[in-house]
Amino acid sequence: MRSHSVTDGLLPDFLDDSVVAAWSASGAPLVDLLRRARVPGRLTGFRRGGRAAVLITEPRHVHQVLGVGGDRFVKRSHRARPLIGDGVMTVTGEAWKSQRRLLQAMFTGRGIQRWEHHIVAAADRVVGRWAESARRGEPRDIAEDAQFFTVDTIWRSLTGHPLDQETYVDLSAVQDIVAALPADVGGSAALPPEVETALAALDERTHRAIAEARGRRDSTAGDGTGDDTSTGTGTGTGTGTGPSVLDRLLDAAGTDPAYTDRLIRDELVTLLVAGYESSARTLAWAFVLLDRHPEVMERAAGDARAVEAVLAETLRLYPTGWLLPRHAPADETLDGLRIPAGTDLLVCPYLTHRDPEVWPDPEAFVPERFPARTPLPPGAYLPFGIGPRACLGTRFAMREMEALLGALLSRFTVETTGPAGEPVFGINLRPAGPLYARVRERT
Ligand code: HEM
Repeated sequence: MRSHSVTDGLLPDFLDDSVVAAWSASGAPLVDLLRRARVPGRLTGFRRGGRAAVLITEPRHVHQVLGVGGDRFVKRSHRARPLIGDGVMTVTGEAWKSQRRLLQAMFTGRGIQRWEHHIVAAADRVVGRWAESARRGEPRDIAEDAQFFTVDTIWRSLTGHPLDQETYVDLSAVQDIVAALPADVGGSAALPPEVETALAALDERTHRAIAEARGRRDSTAGDGTGDDTSTGTGTGTGTGTGPSVLDRLLDAAGTDPAYTDRLIRDELVTLLVAGYESSARTLAWAFVLLDRHPEVMERAAGDARAVEAVLAETLRLYPTGWLLPRHAPADETLDGLRIPAGTDLLVCPYLTHRDPEVWPDPEAFVPERFPARTPLPPGAYLPFGIGPRACLGTRFAMREMEALLGALLSRFTVETTGPAGEPVFGINLRPAGPLYARVRERT
């Protein structure tokens, strides 16, 4: 039987251009246009700036685009390029395969055991700060705490060093850069001057880390202590610490000329950006939801499984990667409909996760949904993406979030002192901050 021809098939339905123009004039966020374009069970889309975009929310379509079609529907990689250059998140083809392979080995379940002491040390630091605030009765910006923690864990894992305040300031400027990036496909990549300055400070910081790591390697190679260079340079335990990510990248540079200092910088910044924003925002969302559901907060205190379920449900309602854009470089068919070359495909986990066909009472925060009693349809739950470009740091992220949330909930109660932020649909889905809360020691 002949497969459906791309030249004579039907196109998906597109929103009327006047609807798109009205949305554009209103200044409403992109998610509003997506909600309007969505017709359950059907492939639909809209045209904007001469380009066609098809919305992907049905689990089976998600599976076809990101999962089985992961090699055909590709990233338009320019979106975050000014920041992360040729890091593993933006590159495609053979370069991506080889970069991913190298990093993947460090971020498996076993690989991340090497970072466990970093995660525990970073969580202890936040617990100490909360204990101090609880003693003084002062509210804290807990979204900021979550962010300090996730920058600390990833920085320790990348370099072997705990984070100091000065480095934190330079690294967390990444969020200004991220905020200045176009939030969706087709935006301009020009950056304002203050963002260029933040980018320069970040570059300086990462190049200094590379030079220091190389200096340490050269000196330990000289004194015959072997190449486990991060031993003794990490948190000071001197045991159980393997090489840092940076050490591994420098090892790779010894055999693969592709690993120039520029590429090493790009990988470090990629892991930093990917590795702190999403986890920090997810933790902030968890606190927003727990604050509205004190009974869930009580149940989760001291119960690791309940903490896991809280995080899984938080990621369902607020997947920080709320929009995963792809692009069809060649003519394709999807569900029997024509997807001409050049079409953007907007996979939207945020809308998929609120599909009432899969999630009864989808807007409600019900951690008991997890772990799911029956297997979910492929493509129905994807906070970490699916397919070949799925999140590299899934296990690291879950482990660090469980460690911090578990440690905090078992020792403190949390009560926000101001209104919780509304969702901001930028490159990441985050609550508008700050998030001040009074924390109290459990009695
Ligand atoms: C709650 C935390 C996190 C969430 C929700 C999350 C989500 C995601 C999603 C949805 C993608 C796929 C993007 C796409 O398909 O276009 C992704 C990719 C990626 N994530 Fe994460 N992530 C998190 C934490 C982390 C951490 C901690 C790291 C690093 C240690 C990390 C590293 C990466 C990298 C490198 C990629 C790109 C992979 C590739 O293109 O091959 N992520 N993440």
